[in-house]
Amino acid sequence: MSERKPIVAGNWKMHNNTIETRTLIQQIIKNGKNLGQNCEVIIAPPFTSIACAAKEVKDSAIQLGAQNLFWEDKGAFTGEISGPMLKEIGCSHVIIGHSERRQYFGETDETVNKRIGSAIRNGLIPIFCLGETLAERETGQAFIVLKRQLVKGLESLKVENPVDFVMAYEPVWAIGTGKTASPEQAQEVHAFVRGELALLWGDKFAAKTRILYGGSVKAANSKNLIGQPDIDGGLIGGASLNAEDFLGIIEQGTGF
Ligand code: PGA
Repeated sequence: MSERKPIVAGNWKMHNNTIETRTLIQQIIKNGKNLGQNCEVIIAPPFTSIACAAKEVKDSAIQLGAQNLFWEDKGAFTGEISGPMLKEIGCSHVIIGHSERRQYFGETDETVNKRIGSAIRNGLIPIFCLGETLAERETGQAFIVLKRQLVKGLESLKVENPVDFVMAYEPVWAIGTGKTASPEQAQEVHAFVRGELALLWGDKFAAKTRILYGGSVKAANSKNLIGQPDIDGGLIGGASLNAEDFLGIIEQGTGF
């Protein structure tokens, strides 16, 4: 078993108002056995539900993440939320560079880089997402794209302790589509990402970095992904919105 403690992180996306947030967290806590023991558990609600979530997770092992942040700490940036704000409200993690942000909101490798810099500076653990589109995979570009995303996303940055940094490989063609990468496909990319990270930040750091897989992960198919040597958990969208489904994945978490 790897020395990397697995992580199961729920990306709630634009779901769950405060009432739904409270209910879902209560169900997870009530039905989850030994939460946090075998794998770290993180949920990332929308901004407006984070304060409510913080109260609910207070005495549990569930950690809180946000789904994005702006790179400046404060100022005239209408509509944005900063690292210090997330930290103050109780977040330990922040998802950065999710493909939906890249696809729909103009996120680029450069803005991803600034956001990761802000997370590091503010003591938040970035969950740095990367992934190729179907067209990129089919034209043999996947590894070129992934390398570019990784190198540019981390340019001029450094994290001291590998437990303070998380990556997530999410093939865009597998997100919300019901398609998952085969365990072999995912393992191939995870090993590649770890190798590229080693070139940047050293073998030791890369060997201790948790790299999550995301894209239509469910309790049933997570079994097939676990056991892959370089897959250290999951970033879960749809299946994190239901306590039973999410707990089903967490229970597999030991094996990641
Ligand atoms: P999905 O989303 O599990 O619904 O495919 C994963 C993600 O986008 O993080």
